[in-house]
Amino acid sequence: MRVTMIGTGYVGLVSGACFADFGHVVTCVDKDASKIEKLKAGQIPIYEPGLDTLVEQNVQAERLFFTTDPEEAIKSADAVFIAVGTPSRRGDGHADLSYVYGAAEEIADLMDGYTVVVNKSTVPVGTGDEVEAIISKKRTGDEFAVVSNPEFLREGAAIDDFKRPDRVVVGTEDERAQNVMQELYRPLYLNETPILFTSRRTSELIKYAANAFLAVKITFINEMADLCEKVGANVQEVSRGIGLDNRIGKKFLNAGPGYGGSCFPKDTLALTKTANDHGSPVRIVDTVVEVNAARKKAMATKVIDAMGGDVSGKTIGVLGLAFKPNTDDMRDAPSLDIIPALQEAGAKIRAFDPEAMEESSHLMKDVMFCDGPYHALEGADVAVIITEWDQFRALDMERVKSLLSTPTVVDLRNIYRPEDMAAKGFNYTSVGRP
Ligand code: UDX
Repeated sequence: MRVTMIGTGYVGLVSGACFADFGHVVTCVDKDASKIEKLKAGQIPIYEPGLDTLVEQNVQAERLFFTTDPEEAIKSADAVFIAVGTPSRRGDGHADLSYVYGAAEEIADLMDGYTVVVNKSTVPVGTGDEVEAIISKKRTGDEFAVVSNPEFLREGAAIDDFKRPDRVVVGTEDERAQNVMQELYRPLYLNETPILFTSRRTSELIKYAANAFLAVKITFINEMADLCEKVGANVQEVSRGIGLDNRIGKKFLNAGPGYGGSCFPKDTLALTKTANDHGSPVRIVDTVVEVNAARKKAMATKVIDAMGGDVSGKTIGVLGLAFKPNTDDMRDAPSLDIIPALQEAGAKIRAFDPEAMEESSHLMKDVMFCDGPYHALEGADVAVIITEWDQFRALDMERVKSLLSTPTVVDLRNIYRPEDMAAKGFNYTSVGRP
């Protein structure tokens, strides 16, 4: 199959490289010439484990191409994927669909022969209908079909998620398009991955419902963590105790500083907007959005409390800035709320993150970015773990103690055991554990 991917952002690039690895011929198109030049030279603009090798291998095998010129790529394609950004629109929180509609116009102008137009961007219910209407102004119905095929990739594990997904969701009732989609995902049939064919609107909603449900799960356990702190219970054991019930499931029950990232914050907000517009509010998600935003801010207070209620003039050594490990993505990262609040309370910040410091340097002021975890803790009064990178999981605690002016650790990801830390002489605070 010949596949064209419009947009070489996170989703477009990972999906393009993986489809090429499945054996299809993929052309990734982006308007950003410098990005395309870099990709052609083998430079990957994002940090995602394994992606550089996957791109390199498939470029060498002549299955993966990069271009700024959509004409040839769209003309020859069996399937054109729209994988452009859908950021929250400033002011009202609705998803901004201008890039999606722009891509639809371009496809309508350039496509040649029956073309399946696949929307991979996260879009509100009904966007597929809009895309179809845009293309229908220039093309007849038998020349194309518009399909919804949401992505469920997690940053840091995206390649594995693409190649070994729990399921693939395809929203189309057009038989020809179903066959093309089946062909595209053929390698997954061999793995017995469930491929769920459904209507386009249902598929669009599945994506939002999935992300919102996961955000609910995280927020639920975060509130349980707060309660655990009050009643002297242990949230990790609560997670295990409820998660072993298959109806609940073990995953996404790690309490922490609140969810961040490119999807949950944006998608939960967009879902609540859509729901309100249709007079069918999802109140549970409204509350989750509110509770999560407040939680990120409250994490600074937790640090201040651990320091006896005052951090003015103190130095805080921060470990981890990205919204989660194995990514350099800073979008809606809890560190963006926690660090400024600590600075406002008078603290100085030293910080280290294995991948996200370059990005953070554009987003934070007056932070001293350090060369490694121990460097960040040198002379600090407290260590605060915000992101659970593997390299922070087995720090030399004797060394940490010798670097800190007082042996205080605030672990917002529960990567150490309270009893071990106490035995080592630390004043240790974590999330939802006595
Ligand atoms: C998410 C979805 O998982 C993915 O299916 C979708 O396509 C895009 O959004 P991603 O944003 O990459 O993926 O990260 P994810 O691993 O889901 O984590 C999201 C946020 O939730 C992070 O801030 C993470 O730290 C937090 N989280 C996750 C928790 O606080 N506790 C958990 O148990 C799980």
